[in-house]
This record gives sequence, C-alpha cells and structure tokens, in this order.
Amino acid sequence: MALIAPHGAGELRPLIVDDVRLSELEAEALTLPSLMVSSAAAANAVMMGAGYFTPLTGYMNRSDALSVAQNMCTSDGLFWPVPVVNLAESCPVQAGQRLGLTDPNREGHPLLAVMTVTAVETLSDDDILTILKKVFRTDDPEHPGVAAFTAQGRTVISGPIEVLNYSYFAEDFPNTFRTAMAIRSEIAERGWERVVAFQTRNPMHRAHEELCRMAMEDLAADGVLVHMLLGKLKPGDIPADVRDASIRKMVELYFPPNSVMVTGYGFDMLYAGPREAVLHAVFRQNAGCTHLIVGRDHAGVGSYYGGFDAQTIFDEEVPGGALKIKIYPADHTAFSKKLGRVVMMRDAPDHSPEDFVLLSGTKVREMLGKGVAPPPEFSRPEVADILMAYYQEIDGPVGK
Ligand code: ADX
Repeated sequence: MALIAPHGAGELRPLIVDDVRLSELEAEALTLPSLMVSSAAAANAVMMGAGYFTPLTGYMNRSDALSVAQNMCTSDGLFWPVPVVNLAESCPVQAGQRLGLTDPNREGHPLLAVMTVTAVETLSDDDILTILKKVFRTDDPEHPGVAAFTAQGRTVISGPIEVLNYSYFAEDFPNTFRTAMAIRSEIAERGWERVVAFQTRNPMHRAHEELCRMAMEDLAADGVLVHMLLGKLKPGDIPADVRDASIRKMVELYFPPNSVMVTGYGFDMLYAGPREAVLHAVFRQNAGCTHLIVGRDHAGVGSYYGGFDAQTIFDEEVPGGALKIKIYPADHTAFSKKLGRVVMMRDAPDHSPEDFVLLSGTKVREMLGKGVAPPPEFSRPEVADILMAYYQEIDGPVGK
C-alpha cells in the first residue's frame, strides 16, 4: 500500500542537491556575495533540504510570512502554520541576484545553501507584533522562541534555495539524524502502514513510553517513530546526545524489537506550542506518518499555553482536509498508585492528584543532579542512570 501523501505535493520535494550540482554551486559561490544566516534560518534550510518542508521551494517573503502567521496559509493557498523565513540585519545583494548562505553553527562557517533572492523587504514593528502574537501567542521577550525570532533582525530575504548539506546534524548524529526521504523508505521497507510519530525534545520517562504504547494499541499501529529534535534548545534543556542515548536504552529494553524507529530531525525548538504542534504534524506527514501524538503542553514552555491548546488548535483552526495526518490527543499521563500502572487521567476519573506519582521537571532535575534516581514508576532505572551521569558531568560529582 502507498504511504500517506506528502503535504501539498504528490511526492517529497527535498531541496538537497546531488554531487554534481554541489560542485557547481561550490564553484559558483566563490564568485557570489555571502551571508551567514541565523541558526533558525539555517535550520529552515536543513528542513527544506531534508524534504520535511515539502512543498516549500525556499524562504517566504513578507506577505507570505504575514499571511501564514495570520491565516496559516500562503498567498497561493498552501496550508502552512509557521513562517519559514530568512531574517537578517541586512542583505548584501538586491532582488534578482544570487547569494551564498553560510552556516552559523559549524566551524569555519561553510556554505549551507545558495539562493536566488527574489525580494529584500523589511518587517515593520506592526508586522513583527502580528507574527509574534499569532505564532507564539505572546510578544514577551522572555519567551525563548520570541527572543530567538526577534534577535535575527528584520530584513526578510526571500526566494528559492538549493541546499548543499545537512549542517552539523548528519555529522554529529549519524545514527539518529534522518531525512524525510530516509524515514519514508524505511517505513516502506518495514511494511508499516499505520505509523504514529512521537515528537520529543526531552528524555523519555515512563509517561512518554506508555503514551507511545497506548497510541500503538489504540490506533492498531504497525510502529512508532520516535522523532527527536536535534537542534538548538533553551538553556537547561537536555542535549540531544544524552537524550538520544537514554531513549535508545529505553526502546532497547522495553519495546518489542522492530516496533520503534528512533530518529531525529535538524531544527531549532520554537517553543511555539499550538502552532509548532501543527508544524510537527505537517513534517511528520512528510516523513510518512499517519498519526502524531499530541499530549499535554506539547512544544510549550513556562505557562504561555493552556495544557491542551496544542490539541484544540487542530479542531478550531486547522481547516478540514488541510492535513492528511491525524493527531492522537493524549490526556495528562502518569503512574497510578491505585492501579499500579501508567494511565491517562481521563481514564481514571475516580482518582485524586495524590493517587498519581507526579514530579515536576524542577524536582526531577534536582534529584538527578544529586545522584538520586526518581522512583521507577516515574523513570526507568537505566534511563535515570544515563541522566544522572550527565548531570554529574555538568554539575561536578555529587557532594562537591
Ligand atoms: S515537546 O516540547 O517536544 O512537546 P516533550 O518532549 O516533553 O516536549 O513532550 C513530548 C510529547 O509528550 C508531547 O506530545 C507532549 O505533549 C507529551 N507529554 C509529555 N509529558 C506528558 C504527560 N505527562 N502527559 C501527557 N503528555 C505528555
């Protein structure tokens, strides 16, 4: 059976070039002005290169960025939830010219992409406010996504791009970074038809593990795609290599063989809650998944979003038929002391909060930092070991 269709196209449209074109572009770039892009713009290029942002052909112009922010739709009528822009302080070329884009995240800032600039525009204060309020639902400069967005500058450099490589993601995470093309091929090879994606930027504790299991069972899925963010995070979040190791250990020990694919994608976290959840759905559809788990405070940060806003946006703001992928909405999930297993709270209406093993992120961080494993109802011991070793590395040995 054919896999789910990509978003807005009959087939994936990755913007990565082949080796012949790569040499041509490298030679051409020697003659071109260049611009070192923001990390967010570089991540957009990687996502377009890797097919995840099908059917986009390059960076959006001001009018598309505003239209996407306001209506989740480009001027051409393509459903898209978050502006995909190249913002800078200024642009070294004019519309109509070619521009080399260099990578801010790799030593020596090598060439990442080459673009044909079709417009150079400036975002007004009003434009920025509109984008922030619509995409992040706040213009609070303390919000990490707002801070990253506004730090880029307000010059919108738009136009089609060709992508030369996958930045540091392919090199630093060779076993985990995957393109949408590679994931689709692997899903097809495994003969999976119903595939549920699990987005994560955190290690997976018992609740996350059980969410995957519940989704598999409820949806009669053939497998789970654990798809972790490998790009930039806010300070304090757990780095990708540590997360990767802990997730792999959990999958190895607690899931049947061949039921889970552990993979990652090269994008910086936006912390845009509901809008980011919709973007997550778009690029999991492109990766060949039929469902995406959206749980409590998906892609959220602090208290900017309601616990389930990232689910209601799909009912209230995503037009019917805009996406083929479906979400698996999950309620707050935790270990029930009464039932002796992890449950969704909506399935245990007779419980009070004390009946669950609930630990805040801050509490868990504190315990792990002190070398104290959280209870096994919360974290698998093997996962806790990996996280404790990490914290001891950054905090120094316990007791110091
Ligand atoms: S996210 O920013 O990538 O969404 P995280 O890795 O913490 O953060 O969460 C991954 C997924 O698990 C999200 O869909 C999130 O809503 C869900 N989730 C995390 N913890 C819980 C929980 N205790 N109950 C229900 N859903 C949860």
